[in-house]
Amino acid sequence: MSKVAVIGAGYVGLTTGACLADLGHDVTVVDIDKEKIALLRRRMVPFFEPGLRELVERNAAAGRLQFTTSYADAVPGAEFAIIAVSTPEGEGGEADLSYVEAAASSIADAMDGPLVVVNKSTVPPLTGDMVSSVLKKHNGRHNAVVVSNPEFLREGSAIQDFMHPDRIVVGSNDRQAAEKVAGLYAPLNAEVLVTPNIYTAEMVKYASNAFLATRISFINEIAWISERVGADAKLVAEGMGLDKRIGPTYLDAGIGWGGSCFGKDVSALTAVAERFDYHPELLHAVMDINRDQRMLVIDLLREALEELPGRVVGLLGLAFKPNTDDMRDAPSVDIARVLLAAGAELRAYDPAAMERSRAGHRVERVSAARPGSRQTADAPSGDRRRPQHLRSSRDEGPGIHLSRHWPGVSRGRSSRAEPGSSVLTSAKSCSLARSGCSPSTITSPGRPRTSAIFKATPTSSFASST
Ligand SMILES: NC(=O)c1ccc[n+]([C@@H]2O[C@H](COP(=O)([O-])OP(=O)(O)OC[C@H]3O[C@@H](n4cnc5c(N)ncnc54)[C@H](O)[C@@H]3O)[C@@H](O)[C@H]2O)c1
Repeated sequence: MSKVAVIGAGYVGLTTGACLADLGHDVTVVDIDKEKIALLRRRMVPFFEPGLRELVERNAAAGRLQFTTSYADAVPGAEFAIIAVSTPEGEGGEADLSYVEAAASSIADAMDGPLVVVNKSTVPPLTGDMVSSVLKKHNGRHNAVVVSNPEFLREGSAIQDFMHPDRIVVGSNDRQAAEKVAGLYAPLNAEVLVTPNIYTAEMVKYASNAFLATRISFINEIAWISERVGADAKLVAEGMGLDKRIGPTYLDAGIGWGGSCFGKDVSALTAVAERFDYHPELLHAVMDINRDQRMLVIDLLREALEELPGRVVGLLGLAFKPNTDDMRDAPSVDIARVLLAAGAELRAYDPAAMERSRAGHRVERVSAARPGSRQTADAPSGDRRRPQHLRSSRDEGPGIHLSRHWPGVSRGRSSRAEPGSSVLTSAKSCSLARSGCSPSTITSPGRPRTSAIFKATPTSSFASST
């Protein structure tokens, strides 16, 4: 069993650290966020991920899992340092690699012998070379080999995905180092792909996320066409998914993908392609379609309510998908911004993300947004510097009121709502509406002004993020 330093205690770093400890490795997780580490030392997990608290508790109690803010406590004597820090969207859609660079330089300062540095953060091809040169620049005395080992877990099922992966991908210009990294996962008996250079492994991750995002935008496009020709998009997707060459996942039409990965990763891949003089037309279309899907909800609401000012709209689901409290690039945020700008009042509920929403997420009012058609829908969300955050009930002024729970909901098929009516429908006879996009009626005697309610959290199969 190996001594491992994991850099970053976020969704990926903490899951990786806890799971590797559970496999028997001696793991120390480092994070620069003092509050996070203080919580973890008290065996509290700073975000919601099913089963993670128990895993952390068990392995910390067994002495296999430690937490620190100091690289000097984690790196000396370790055989592996696994970088799992954030790689958010940066200038012009490129991945912002400043956290990775900072982590590499701190590793170099702390290392006291040969080390395998594993890049688990999602990074564009050639990042391994950058990490390698930072390590060399900051520490000429000890040899560090860089291996790419992208992570494919999904929030909400992170432990299951880590412990039962479809595949493990490792790639390095030093094959022996790549195989050593694969050895960390040996107890999982998973299929391992060792790529002959680091760029290929880096590219596998981007290509995988871009492909999944493409499936979602593809089925949304098919749904638009199906609706026009009178076909049922849900059944079309089912019929496609029964084909073994296609498979059923990531084929749910709806409000599109959200989360911390797909948007930034497709955008970063696009930026890489353009840097290398290739115009990735398909990837641009995939992003455009996704942006438009979010505004479809607004169209449906306008159709159902005729007007938005003064209407109270319920958002069921705030996080970007079920079983997580992650609000990064959640469709609910864009949708809420547009509804607020249009003068609606929002009531929101999420079974897992209420705390996160209260903890300072804000929806900014947008001024001249005229949400609506597919053609104009990118007005509010065309600004790629998302996400803006949710306003909490403690904030002043109109905005989102976070509810502790939601009253009963009934769906119907009549067409228009009157202000104050307790039963309202919208369900446009539309395949997209049938896929969970539609506002529904709400029976709400206690809240007579509530006009519409809809699911703002996409279903798990397509609101992904790996
Ligand atoms: N979240 C997912 O579902 C998922 C899945 C696969 C891959 N990824 C990729 O994994 C990476 C991490 O994602 P995440 O969702 O865990 O991010 P996160 O924001 O939840 O966690 C990142 C952590 O890194 C810490 N950090 C930043 N700079 C640091 C430094 N210099 N030293 C030590 N700690 C530092 C932050 O404080 C934070 O706790 C990203 O590249 C992401 O694209 C994410």
